[in-house]
Amino acid sequence: MQRTLGVCYYPEHWPESMWAEDARRMAEAGLTWVRIAEFAWSRMEPKPGQYEWDWLDRAIETLSQAGLKVVLGTPTSTPPRWLLDKWPDMLPVAQDGHTRKYGSRRHYCYSHRGFRDDCALITLKMAERYGKDPRVHGWQLDNEYGNHNTTLSYSKAAREGFLQWLADKYKTIDALNEAWGNVFWSMEYDNFDQIDLPNQTVADANPSHWLDFRRYSSDQVADFNRVQSDILRAHTSTPLIHNFMSKSTDFDHFKVAADLDIASWDSYPLGYLEKHSALGEEWIARYAQQGDPDFQAFHHDLYRAVGRGRWWIMEQQPGPVNWAVYNPAPLPGMPRLWAWEAFAHGAEAVCFFRWRQAPFAQEQMHAGLLRPDSADAPAIHEVKQVAQELKQLSKAGTVQAKVALVFDYQSVWAWQIQPQGKGFEYFNLIFDFYRAMRRLGLSIDIVAPDCADLSQYKLVAMPGIMHIGKHLEKALEDFKGTVIAGPRTGSKTEDFQIPANLPPVMPDRNCTVTYVESLRPGVKRPLASGGFVHHWAEAIETDQDVLEGYTDGTPAFISKDKTVYLTGWPDDTALQNLLRSMCQRETIETMDLSGGLRVRDTDTHRFILNYGPDAEEFEGQSVAVADVIWKTLSPAKA
Ligand code: GAL
Repeated sequence: MQRTLGVCYYPEHWPESMWAEDARRMAEAGLTWVRIAEFAWSRMEPKPGQYEWDWLDRAIETLSQAGLKVVLGTPTSTPPRWLLDKWPDMLPVAQDGHTRKYGSRRHYCYSHRGFRDDCALITLKMAERYGKDPRVHGWQLDNEYGNHNTTLSYSKAAREGFLQWLADKYKTIDALNEAWGNVFWSMEYDNFDQIDLPNQTVADANPSHWLDFRRYSSDQVADFNRVQSDILRAHTSTPLIHNFMSKSTDFDHFKVAADLDIASWDSYPLGYLEKHSALGEEWIARYAQQGDPDFQAFHHDLYRAVGRGRWWIMEQQPGPVNWAVYNPAPLPGMPRLWAWEAFAHGAEAVCFFRWRQAPFAQEQMHAGLLRPDSADAPAIHEVKQVAQELKQLSKAGTVQAKVALVFDYQSVWAWQIQPQGKGFEYFNLIFDFYRAMRRLGLSIDIVAPDCADLSQYKLVAMPGIMHIGKHLEKALEDFKGTVIAGPRTGSKTEDFQIPANLPPVMPDRNCTVTYVESLRPGVKRPLASGGFVHHWAEAIETDQDVLEGYTDGTPAFISKDKTVYLTGWPDDTALQNLLRSMCQRETIETMDLSGGLRVRDTDTHRFILNYGPDAEEFEGQSVAVADVIWKTLSPAKA
């Protein structure tokens, strides 16, 4: 597989006289791809039904003349103002009931059928015009589904859609009452029309009601995407792509990507560190100009799974962004390192956002590869370097990992609905496992919760997955390696009730969870071999082997054959101890990467990346700050 670079470009932002020179410089920098048009609806259709394609034709031609391949975006994340006159009720409604306003982007509710029809129309017009255009090599559908908290909308359209979704699912109101347990608090309904959305209730709404609303909302994103993918499929055979985001969990990305050919994601390591890191000020300060050493890698592995092996970075941070609480510049070397981390994880393309910094509007403080005055900004030199390096190393393969981590969007929703203790976040639980695995130098696959075959792995971890579905259950029954489950694994039925025979409901169950506790920050339950459990602890009954106990002698990690159940949320030390010994058992090589170094293998190469603020040693070789080096792997290792 060829690895390539690209950039996001907005011809509509610049005088046409600049386009040819921009295109020439892009090609000269070694770029292959240019993504355009995803926000240009107001220029494609300035008035209802009045289409203007000439400028876009000329932009595509200019870029293509320079040798660039165009990825064309459908513009549906930025509906023009006139659409709002047509559909005043298309705006998303926030959980507190207020309607969100026009004046930025993503001002639409996925459930609004009239708006959906207009999205279908603009997509059709574009598909008819450019579907067979040989200069267009791919399509991006919409832009960042769910960004700005838009997946969940509490509009009238959402309610109508939800009621129909419930009627389709349950068929009878009695079945719904039963599944939700509505006898509780006299919440029984007589018919579907009586049901409302679960926001703004006096006390907590029923968790089953919430979970169904989360499922419904997720399905709306998949349906919305499918409207466009169906139209495009009928007109083009080039790949369909969406640019997903990091820590974006409000809809099931596996379901949306089922209608796409390539998953891509937008990687802003410094902005995300500020926005998402759960590890506190000291950690953020240490990695402020490099980004969290595991966060990008996690998403690379996630989106490789979402894209069924095919994935890109559609937007890569080149310099300071504008939207985080603090916006530092990357250390020199980091844009190159980020690109190589992505390629090492199997990215087909890394595209930088954006070509030239815009001097106007919301993102005027967001760096590009060029300054607003068109001079080179620092990252373009690193892009050129990567382009040169790719000539030597264009085919580095991806590795078949021996270790897999299950990621389940429904479990995110389940534990947001019922954290049971402040801060119980499924994403953080999974990410703690991921980080501990990376610190052991492991290359990891992330797998979907309906994964039907685990036979290529030796070790599979599935903490926190609320309910194990049929495919995974079968895959686990057939699996010969080590399984790590818990806490909270298999702890609910699909309807969000406690299972009749108590948790965990899973193959090779080795204990019964009798009650659970959530723990305040700072409360630690020390483990006999070091480390501790925090956030969450479960009391169990078991007659199986205790792999690890608490210092007071009660069981913490239970094992039966090759299945391990964790009765709490282990800290990093405990997790690494456990994972290291399970890897030994499965003869998987581990390392000790306690500082800023990280390693990722492909079939042919080992990439060593330094995220730390100091130079570090790897096997006798110094790796400079913000540097990435690689070694050829011997065939035996590869
Ligand atoms: C992304 C988005 C881009 C741009 C960028 C700025 O979320 O897709 O359009 O806003 O962030 O960092």
